[in-house]
Amino acid sequence: MIPQDFIQTLLSRVDIIDVIGRHVPLKKAGANYQACCPFHQEKSPSFTVSPTKQFYHCFGCGAHGTAIGFLMEYSGLGYVEAIQALAQQLGMPVPQDNAVRHESRSSSAPGMVEALRVASRYYRQQLKASTRAIDYLKRRGLTGEVAAKFGLGYAPDGWQNLAVAFERYEDAVLAQTGLVISSEAGKRYDRFRDRIMFPILNQKGDVVGFGGRVLDHGEPKYLNSPETALFQKGQELYGLFQARRAIRDAGRVLVVEGYMDVVALVQHGIEYAVATLGTATTAVHVQKLLRHSDEVVFCFDGDAAGQRAAWRALEQSLPVLTDHSRLAFLFLPQEHDPDSYVREFGREAFESRLQQDAVPLSAYLFRRMSQLHDLGVDEGRSAFLDALRPLVAQVGASALALMLRRRAAELAQIDAEELAALWEIETRRPVAPAPARARRPAPAPVSRKLLRLVLFRPAFAAGVQAQWIVGNDEDSRALRTVLEILADQPQLDTPALVERGRETEAGGVLAQCAAEIMNWDEAFDAAADFEVAIDQLRASRRQSRLQWLASKPLRELSEAEKQELREMR
Ligand code: UTP
Ligand code: MN
Repeated sequence: MIPQDFIQTLLSRVDIIDVIGRHVPLKKAGANYQACCPFHQEKSPSFTVSPTKQFYHCFGCGAHGTAIGFLMEYSGLGYVEAIQALAQQLGMPVPQDNAVRHESRSSSAPGMVEALRVASRYYRQQLKASTRAIDYLKRRGLTGEVAAKFGLGYAPDGWQNLAVAFERYEDAVLAQTGLVISSEAGKRYDRFRDRIMFPILNQKGDVVGFGGRVLDHGEPKYLNSPETALFQKGQELYGLFQARRAIRDAGRVLVVEGYMDVVALVQHGIEYAVATLGTATTAVHVQKLLRHSDEVVFCFDGDAAGQRAAWRALEQSLPVLTDHSRLAFLFLPQEHDPDSYVREFGREAFESRLQQDAVPLSAYLFRRMSQLHDLGVDEGRSAFLDALRPLVAQVGASALALMLRRRAAELAQIDAEELAALWEIETRRPVAPAPARARRPAPAPVSRKLLRLVLFRPAFAAGVQAQWIVGNDEDSRALRTVLEILADQPQLDTPALVERGRETEAGGVLAQCAAEIMNWDEAFDAAADFEVAIDQLRASRRQSRLQWLASKPLRELSEAEKQELREMR
């Protein structure tokens, strides 16, 4: 664990404008800076960064956070890694609590990235030296250019080749990264031997793991790095780092199953493809991809395994879809995968299939469900509705959910109202859905107002007494937490407070409040608002106290309470 006070110092020294400006072209707009949001596609800028609050917020997609949060979101870093990256930029050494040092052994020791980079360089050099490996890649239709783009390498045969690349083969970091395996007998040996090496990069471009393919026939065909603190298969996508630009240009990302598929597609000019890493598609994958593009096409083999993979991808996608997402599924002819298809028929044929044969998610959903249930009979239609219900319930995108329900009703031959009643869907219009661009949403509960004000000027906390807060709603609880934090550490400023709150139940509310105060400028008379809010808070506390006292029979009240009651009335 990294000590809290270090994180505060770090946040007070770092300038979020520099941190974000390095990745996103920021333009000054009034007191704040603006850009088109890097987390969703948009034409006019709603991504706003506040230099005074050291906080960013996108009024389009709702992304928000501090400099630490930005690096986590944008570069796909973990919390600790993001802190380390910022500290490195400022030349500040990151202190470690002793108690947890052994824990960080299994998490991302700073040496892991370096070790993986060294190994990757070594494998690349070895590829140049191996005609056998080069021939293999040539036979698979790859040019040196594409091999270089993906940093392909070769791990030679032999048990301890990495001893050449590293000063100390015994170094624990080699085992931590999975490059070296320690046997129970205490022997150490290279994990990857006589394999073509595919380095897997995270969104920063660091190598976080490898996939290694046998050259001839052997088991397993692909050997992958184990999961480590740096590398989680359910989160990383092979080729995403290299494809970012092409994805933006094409406005589309293609998800395939294999390393070779990605590389072969690029070889044929289709550069917007990524692959899952020998695992099923996860919601995290989809969410990550939707940040890069609204259109995601999954391309699977036409066989039963491909169907299963597609269905699983659909299930994982439902909760993370937005009303702007366009997901689709392309099934290739049985005997093909994207690699073999594009090699045989070329780019144009592949892309025209993509255009013509990709089935939108909604169509795929209904096609599959109508295959499973006989819509010609009542029993089939009711089973159809029953199976569909939990799926549609996961769709958070409200317009899409509405479309899906309407289509479900049509296919089941009932009307939309009947379906709504069956699924117990609130048919009243939702009460004014939270306006995405609301600046300062008008009437908020007093605890919320105070949260915003204290976040704006943490010194205000000294003027709020915890016993005045009577509610037990989310805002009230968050306000109590903030007061406790500030009683302990009164020096915290806005971003430090948000970061500190991250570890508490109040984290989400605090981040929201920070977004709500993005447009408050220093000229705004916060002190006046604060006084009004405090009066309100005390009045509401008085009110509830009065109600409580008045609800009791007089004889149950103590003398002091009776006195209090008289004074209040
Ligand atoms: P495939 O078996 O479809 O291989 O595995 P492929 O991509 O067509 O590979 P080539 O064309 O024979 O070289 C698809 C993906 O599943 C994972 C890998 O990520 C592979 O790219 N996989 C496959 C493994 O992790 N281990 C294996 O043994 C096989
Ligand atoms: Mn293949």
